[in-house]
Amino acid sequence: MSKKSSGAKIAAASTAIDIGIGTRDRAAIADGLSRLLADTYTLYLTTHNFHWNVTGPMFNTLHVMFMGQYTELWNAVDPIAERIRSLGHPAPGSYAQFASLSSLPDAPDSPPKALEMVRVLVAGHEAVARTARKLFPIADKAGDEPTADLLTQRLTVHEQTAWMLRSLLEE
Ligand SMILES: [Fe+2]
Repeated sequence: MSKKSSGAKIAAASTAIDIGIGTRDRAAIADGLSRLLADTYTLYLTTHNFHWNVTGPMFNTLHVMFMGQYTELWNAVDPIAERIRSLGHPAPGSYAQFASLSSLPDAPDSPPKALEMVRVLVAGHEAVARTARKLFPIADKAGDEPTADLLTQRLTVHEQTAWMLRSLLEE
């Protein structure tokens, strides 16, 4: 083997991924995480939109509650994207990619009434939970504990937030 080709082999080896999760599993998990990222970003934007546009007697409660929720969602997108990178795949990060990957509809064109906003957000948190839950057995089977841990954390938040928002709709 020439000096040149062995140098190239070392360079290739230093960028290859060998973390004990196979190529196909890493691709499947990265795809699921990309969907979770798109869902989370879409729900983040809708929640921030509702923070700006909410009106009515519940204004202050909802304005403040939505701020807490969009801040949490905004902080969540980074670890999801960086887990995709750790698995060796590019993270989606454009409105076009998010629109094609997201299971949630875009925010409505004109602001709904306050309680309709709450209903939209309940449906959104439930949809993100379904996306995370669908990926869990794939990550679990591949022995991808960091992804399973991330999904567990996201499921906890989305199911708890859906419950809190759902409680506002009860008589
Ligand atoms: Fe604000």
